[in-house]
Amino acid sequence: MGGHTPATAVLSKVRASADDLSIWPASTTRLTHGELAIGGVPLTEIAERFDTPAYVLDEGEVRARCRTYRDAFPEAAVLYAAKAFLSRAVVRWVREEGLGLDVCSAGELELAVTAGFPPERIVLHGNAKPPRDLEAALRLGVGRIVIDSPSEIARIAAAVGPGGRRQKVMVRVVPGVSAGGHDKIRTGTDDQKFGLSLTDGAAQHAIARVLGQPELELTGLHCHIGSQITDVKPYLVALRRMVGLMARVRDAHRVVLAELDMGGGHGIAYRPGEPVLDLTTLARRMRAELVEGCAAAGLTVPRLAVEPGRAIVGPAGVALYRVLTVKHTGEKVFVAVDGGMSDNPRPALYGVRYAPRLVGRASTAGSCTATVVGRHCEAGDILAADVELPGDIRPGDLLAVPVAGAYQLSMASGYNLVGRPAVIAVHEGSARTLVRRETLEDFRSRDIGG
Ligand code: LLP
Repeated sequence: MGGHTPATAVLSKVRASADDLSIWPASTTRLTHGELAIGGVPLTEIAERFDTPAYVLDEGEVRARCRTYRDAFPEAAVLYAAKAFLSRAVVRWVREEGLGLDVCSAGELELAVTAGFPPERIVLHGNAKPPRDLEAALRLGVGRIVIDSPSEIARIAAAVGPGGRRQKVMVRVVPGVSAGGHDKIRTGTDDQKFGLSLTDGAAQHAIARVLGQPELELTGLHCHIGSQITDVKPYLVALRRMVGLMARVRDAHRVVLAELDMGGGHGIAYRPGEPVLDLTTLARRMRAELVEGCAAAGLTVPRLAVEPGRAIVGPAGVALYRVLTVKHTGEKVFVAVDGGMSDNPRPALYGVRYAPRLVGRASTAGSCTATVVGRHCEAGDILAADVELPGDIRPGDLLAVPVAGAYQLSMASGYNLVGRPAVIAVHEGSARTLVRRETLEDFRSRDIGG
């Protein structure tokens, strides 16, 4: 144990991981001179044609991931969580692949429906749904509304009104399971804002009230324990508790609920070698737990639903930046690029570590440890701390960050009026703009105060 690893072994390990494409889209290919192509399109060509920063989204990878879910969960409803990233093209891909949609605002809902998504396949979430959002949900005929607080019950019932079309609803339950990649994305316990507690009886109370509302039809229960979860166990514990609650609902109210939505949160790797939630195992073990739990409780097996966001679009996206400056400060090397925390707040918010890579140029230089920073006026604007890059990294180089498809652009901000990057779809050798770059004209047109 202990001892020193020979320097050559360290170097080859660093090289191997720098060259590891395991977390990149499956369509990624190596071309000559350090070039990479995704969906058949070289990244340098995208940078030249569409400018940087650009977010490249591999349509084939998104579709393949949707299909992997359909295959892994043949008996379940798979709803794509739109908050990870939504555009009209994504709405179409997800629809064509047979998934449903989870939305959490009137914005996401209207974008999806106006892009042709069937409203009955949409579930509306939100811990605090504004009247405007509820109005849109009822007007558009959303499939399910997930009740997240007691006051919503009367509000939704009143909005439906006597003789109105009965609205299908679910109740979001907090099952008391702690899981998730960071404190800010753990939602399975009572110390956070989402859902109704199983332990203090708030969930049971809300269920009883919903059942007493003729305007509402309770189709089932929902829970979402957290995000970036790489272990199957917390899902099984949560599922067992949810089945237990369903049995108590049957005993107390003589109502057998037909649906059980276990939310999303399925973890992915941001750097080579990081753990990933295995979907086949998850699906098999959840199914087994559900069937056994229901048999033991004498319940009819409800239809399961899952709501993956990150695991569908995350690995399908690559962020492409141009290096603007390289600064040597004491022991540190800062590589500054033309984007940053306004297009990717995740390192600053959750301490997530990414694996950027030089593309479009071969380098024979040894590697150096560098910190990739953005161009914003803030010292915390760090995209990737202490990563290995070629020692001759220089202004004009292109850096690509894989696994950039989820919760980056959907959380992008207007900080420093830098403007949000374009989203470019690649597929079978061609590239097209899905969302255009935000421009000075966009800022000026909203700023009407004069
Ligand atoms: N269903 C519900 C009710 C959710 O709240 C979420 C995520 C999902 C499904 C999808 O979870 P996913 O499969 O994508 O992990 N901004 C954070 C993640 C926040 C997740 C919020 N809810 C991040 O960048 O990691």
